[in-house]
Amino acid sequence: MGKYYLTMMSDVKILECLGHGEKTIGELKKTLGINDAKFLNAAISRLARKGYVTVRKPWFRDFRVKSTGRTYAPPNTRVIAVMNLKGGVGKTTTAVNLSAKIAEAGKKTLLVDMDPQASASFHYEISSTVGTYKVLTAEANISEAITATCNKGLDILPANLDLAGAEAEFPGYSGMSKLRKSLTEVADEYEYIIIDCPPSLSMLSINALCAAESVIVPLECDQYALESLRNLEKVIDEVRKFNPILHIGGILINKFRPQEDRAAEIEQKIRQNYKDNTYNIIIPYDDATAKTCQTNVPMNMEAIEAPMVKAYGKLAKEVINNG
Ligand SMILES: Nc1ncnc2c1ncn2[C@@H]1O[C@H](COP(=O)(O)OP(=O)(O)OP(=O)(O)O)[C@@H](O)[C@H]1O
Ligand SMILES: [Mg+2]
Repeated sequence: MGKYYLTMMSDVKILECLGHGEKTIGELKKTLGINDAKFLNAAISRLARKGYVTVRKPWFRDFRVKSTGRTYAPPNTRVIAVMNLKGGVGKTTTAVNLSAKIAEAGKKTLLVDMDPQASASFHYEISSTVGTYKVLTAEANISEAITATCNKGLDILPANLDLAGAEAEFPGYSGMSKLRKSLTEVADEYEYIIIDCPPSLSMLSINALCAAESVIVPLECDQYALESLRNLEKVIDEVRKFNPILHIGGILINKFRPQEDRAAEIEQKIRQNYKDNTYNIIIPYDDATAKTCQTNVPMNMEAIEAPMVKAYGKLAKEVINNG
């Protein structure tokens, strides 16, 4: 069961509390022991928008909330952050290709661009001013900001450079769960949400880790691979205090060139140290991708049969089958 089931527990509790009857907001607050009026109001608006409750306001009285009797189906969304604190290892390439391949397998998917470099959005040639930044700062609703991509079944929450300014705007604990709260609004529309993270430890990456249930870590087999993994593990351990189900979903060896000095040796070391956590599939080094400095495999029809594209197809299967 996906993480968003946990978030939706508040919605389930509200519906249970209502039963087939009607209650005032005050009564709901008291019965459920919820002191945060904003949180309760947001949950009620969400339930009303999705047709689970109706809300009416009798003259001079408190709002009254009534169940419509519709059966609640908690979303089973899997939220995966693609992260490595090291730059240029293939996070965006992985997020873009994996999300496209999961969508191709018939699973409705949302790609979230959490990087101010906006490479994933650039890939889809989307330069909207309404994107992750405005969603996180509550200037826009997430549903308005999400756009369809040219890949069937794949939507994107785009980013732009404004996102670089978000850091200063989310100080403290409450700033960590902005993305998670926004994704809750659309969680039941997607089976997979894939987050492309920036290459740094920032409020943006922490937001991604607080929203995700698992992390895919792309890396290159170089001398920094194990160190970057250890650093990321420390960060994940810290974030687990706030998001206990967060875990490494898999380490993904990328840009692999077996003929390269020490590549095979480092691959072995990674597999020894992270035995159950390393994907069987390896993404080979792809000359065309490297030359064009692009992530554009799913849109590039000529590349459809390229080994790299096939590898991402197999990765998508591994991710889907690993449940
Ligand atoms: N399998 C591959 N073979 C060859 N080149 C690749 C491969 N994967 C990614 N690249 C290239 O490596 C570069 C970095 O990839 P990408 O942008 O996906 O990394 P990133 O980790 O998202 O970078 P950043 O940290 O800047 O966000 C790009 O030029 C991309 O085209
Ligand atoms: Mg990137």
